[in-house]
Amino acid sequence: MTTGELSRRRFLETSSVGGAALALGLSAQAALGKDDEVVLGFIGTGGRGRFLLKQAADLPGIRFGAICDLKQPAMDEAMKILAEQPTKPKMYTDFKQMMEKEKLNGIMIATEVGNHAKVAVPVLEAGFNIFCEKPVDADVERVDKFVKAARAAKGITQIGFQRHYKPGYVEAIEKIHAGLVGDIRYLQGYWQWPRLPGGGWVADVAMSGGELVEQAGHHMDVMAWIMKGQHPERCVSMGGIMRKNPGASTCEDHSFTTFEFPNEILFQYSHLFGAGTRRFIGEMLRVYGSKAGAEINKLDYGRPGGWKAYDEGGKEMPITDKTCDHTEGVTRQILAFADGCRKTEKFLPASNIETARTATLMSIMGRQAMFNPSTKKFDERVIEWKDLGTTTDPA
Ligand SMILES: NC(=O)c1ccc[n+]([C@@H]2O[C@H](COP(=O)([O-])OP(=O)(O)OC[C@H]3O[C@@H](n4cnc5c(N)ncnc54)[C@H](O)[C@@H]3O)[C@@H](O)[C@H]2O)c1
Repeated sequence: MTTGELSRRRFLETSSVGGAALALGLSAQAALGKDDEVVLGFIGTGGRGRFLLKQAADLPGIRFGAICDLKQPAMDEAMKILAEQPTKPKMYTDFKQMMEKEKLNGIMIATEVGNHAKVAVPVLEAGFNIFCEKPVDADVERVDKFVKAARAAKGITQIGFQRHYKPGYVEAIEKIHAGLVGDIRYLQGYWQWPRLPGGGWVADVAMSGGELVEQAGHHMDVMAWIMKGQHPERCVSMGGIMRKNPGASTCEDHSFTTFEFPNEILFQYSHLFGAGTRRFIGEMLRVYGSKAGAEINKLDYGRPGGWKAYDEGGKEMPITDKTCDHTEGVTRQILAFADGCRKTEKFLPASNIETARTATLMSIMGRQAMFNPSTKKFDERVIEWKDLGTTTDPA
């Protein structure tokens, strides 16, 4: 089945939301029926933004009323992607003007990580439903600001940790929660890349949080999900720069981090760039249980990932083997956001501000454990959750 077919089928399955009440978002917003289009705005039409627009462009029930970026060329490229839309989206360089002038049911945000809170907080305060790319932001203060605004907002907040929308992950984690592997003993994972770390703003740790935050946050998200939203109590990490990035970046190109969850459950994780041979490229998350084990998304480049479970004797256990494919996850998350915009009550989407908060703070904790900001050196140390100084821990 193609992504387009899947999208249409899923839209028909889920588009029965609607009703007479006013939609969230602009107070003047008309109520949405089940076949009504959701009209979205989009802020940040850079690389990821345009990928999202491409995935969304032919989805039924979604139309982009306006797009916004500080850079005209980024918007010009985005307009080409939306060229087939029956109505041309308006272009803005100021998202506040876009919010004032356009009637929108929700707004998608894909600015740089360090600009998430700066953009998302006013959008939430204006009452819109938002989808914002992952992670929440690059430092604890901005994460807390975003979380407080999302909790107080009348609109929903969906965060772009798309693994929550990949059927393989959902199935694996539901089964782990239902006792498939017994008690969780250890967690392990890696992500190994052929390339060197990202340049541009990703190399600027104030903007990205570093690679453990910007990239590996996806895996922190999955492990915190497996641990039912618990956060690690402490962590230690060794990381650094092997290849001396040009521009004297302090963004790590390798790290080995160990997190300790409650009940002394350790999660050992390596994140490596420039992994010499293609044979070592890929990503893997493993759950060691008391009676079985599960391995999720052992992705070799060019092949979609999946998940497997093995019993005590090493025999493969029966699973439906649903896909962990990236594009399918992204398509489903966009459809889920549109569904969320049709609802009239606030709710927590599958990837929401609380799950994303834990994943993001966990990643920041790992970064703090490998890099000491006062000496400006990679210097391993133990960081406890309380050392983060977050002001948004639930009471
Ligand atoms: N979920 C995923 O798998 C995935 C993959 C890649 C990137 N991302 C995330 O997507 C986000 C964007 O990454 P990218 O690589 O596309 O960055 P990018 O630099 O290519 O694009 C960011 C865009 O945001 C625009 N922008 C910044 N502030 C703005 C403002 N106030 N108003 C309007 N536009 C503004 C910039 O001009 C730029 O065009 C990041 O959060 C990144 O972590 C997620």
